[in-house]
Amino acid sequence: VRAVVADAFGDVGAVRVADVPRPEVGARDVLIRVAYAGVNPSDWKELAGGLADSQGRSLVVPSRHYTFPMITGRDASGVVAAVGAEVTDLDIGQPVVTLSDGPAAWGTFAEFVRVRCDRVAPIPPTLSLREGAAFPVAATTAWQALGTLTAGAVRPGPHVLVHGGSGGVGTFAVQLACLSGASVAATARHANAAYVRSLGAELVVDYQAGPLQPAVRAWRPDGVEVVVDTVGGPSAVDLIDLIRPGGRLVSVATITDDDDGDELHMAAAARGVAHDVLIVTSKGARAQLSALADLLAAGRLRLPKLQVFELDGAAEALRTSRAGRVVGKLVLRVGDAERS
Ligand SMILES: NC(=O)c1ccc[n+]([C@@H]2O[C@H](COP(=O)([O-])OP(=O)(O)OC[C@H]3O[C@@H](n4cnc5c(N)ncnc54)[C@H](OP(=O)(O)O)[C@@H]3O)[C@@H](O)[C@H]2O)c1
Repeated sequence: VRAVVADAFGDVGAVRVADVPRPEVGARDVLIRVAYAGVNPSDWKELAGGLADSQGRSLVVPSRHYTFPMITGRDASGVVAAVGAEVTDLDIGQPVVTLSDGPAAWGTFAEFVRVRCDRVAPIPPTLSLREGAAFPVAATTAWQALGTLTAGAVRPGPHVLVHGGSGGVGTFAVQLACLSGASVAATARHANAAYVRSLGAELVVDYQAGPLQPAVRAWRPDGVEVVVDTVGGPSAVDLIDLIRPGGRLVSVATITDDDDGDELHMAAAARGVAHDVLIVTSKGARAQLSALADLLAAGRLRLPKLQVFELDGAAEALRTSRAGRVVGKLVLRVGDAERS
């Protein structure tokens, strides 16, 4: 089985394509013959050791320790190649996507990946496997960040600001917030303003042109109900003033760019704003993946532009992600699995 592996935590340049054993499936596992794997910032951060605690345990999946050689990647699409004895609702040959537990379990940049069945969802025939690999991490993160909004529990018509609206997570957060009935503003570089507006944002603020406050306050004088921050960093504290008391700041943990969070928590508490730090969970992601795949297949949710790399070009894909400024999603063509 060909896979993109790393022999130790380090730079993306150290990954290599190697032969690894085909994984065995346990009773509740699914073996997927991978067609495409999505590339996310977590992939190069994880390679650098950024998602490991001091004991070598995964911060994202605390029950797992990293072992080497480690296979990279969390997103994948493909077809079901085998199922464990207790998996009765997926068929061999069925096209699926997964939000896997990533390298600490078994990464997706491999011709076969083993995942727990609740992390796997069938996809409708109108969604291609290439498209399927491009959404699990980014779209479920956006879904989980919007939480009660996507569940319809917040009163209709909240105002939502997505900080970093042109990236993978931002692209889905803007659209999902719009679909939930919210009015949406987003930040992006000027060059990406038209793209973010095309996703449904009423207001796009160029974060490079100065403070966000004047434009956001002109749009929503009392402040917005929800801010989803996909950018992080020291300026995150400035977002608090944009939120009305009783509102909520959701910080999508970036690991590399986050401060220790204390200042943010205190500023939020002082203003009467709830503050959540989100780390996406793959556990039970099937329902979210299914709902998202249906929205995509129905054309109610749009994928960004896709850029395809070959498996041998994994290091280049990871470098492209790390360089930032990615508008759209990067996917690796891993195998020749197509719908059967
Ligand atoms: N905690 C979790 O579970 C979780 C899950 C998924 C992702 N993440 C993290 O969330 C972040 C975003 O992920 P992604 O997949 O969306 O990344 P991405 O596709 O690479 O997009 C990042 C976007 O951020 C924008 N950006 C950069 N600096 C900015 C700034 N100062 N202000 C506003 N926007 C800025 C860029 O847009 P412009 O070119 O328009 O500036 C870029 O398109 C990453 O740090 C990732 O690791 C965390």
